[in-house]
Amino acid sequence: MNLKEMVGIEAAKHVKSGMVVGLGTGSTAYYMVEEIGRRMKEEGLDIVGVTTSSATENQAKELGIPLKSIDEVSHVDLTIDGADEISQAFNGIKGGGAALLFEKIVATYSKKVIWIVDQSKMVEDLGKFPLPVEVIPYGSDQLMRLFTEKGLHPVLRQDEQKNIVKTDSQNYIIDLHLEQIKDPDELANWLDKQVGVVEHGLFLHMVDTVIVGYEDGPKTLQ
Ligand code: 5RP
Repeated sequence: MNLKEMVGIEAAKHVKSGMVVGLGTGSTAYYMVEEIGRRMKEEGLDIVGVTTSSATENQAKELGIPLKSIDEVSHVDLTIDGADEISQAFNGIKGGGAALLFEKIVATYSKKVIWIVDQSKMVEDLGKFPLPVEVIPYGSDQLMRLFTEKGLHPVLRQDEQKNIVKTDSQNYIIDLHLEQIKDPDELANWLDKQVGVVEHGLFLHMVDTVIVGYEDGPKTLQ
């Protein structure tokens, strides 16, 4: 079993019947969604899922997981999602899979958030992984200029065919190549104020539990 599968299965143990569960996005969250689907079929687990991307929505539908949108539920009991980096302070960078906007909305309305990662994602300080920023296409060149002037080393995300990547909301992603983020709160506050920025991948003070996959087994950190 690979480490992503290990933590996906471990996290799914926290899911109980009757819960509204936020279903994250990415190659690690994929295994958690598969395990929830298996438990529903084989163990009679009964939940409602709230998905964080069209990719996860398609997967959940194939597994027969009943779904509601974030606007159809009063709250989410538990969200389980992957992350690109997690610092010692339990802050994270997310958005490598371009789903950060829905992921942040679902996490915001969740009573509890669990992140699942393999050990390579645990870092001292955030920033080696480029910080994704979701922006409205209109005016995005101006934001590129602004980020360059600020020394934030922006790169507009493109796919392998050099097409601009579009999010589920038809926005663009600008990745900031920062190497090290000394003050994540300060950067998050600044990004929050920039017109045209829809959301950014700094997920600060949002997670309760992190399940890390090591070769000798999963470890739950709180
Ligand atoms: C998608 C995300 C993912 O959770 C993050 O990129 C981790 O993905 P993976 O588990 O595939 O490494 O934030 O927007």
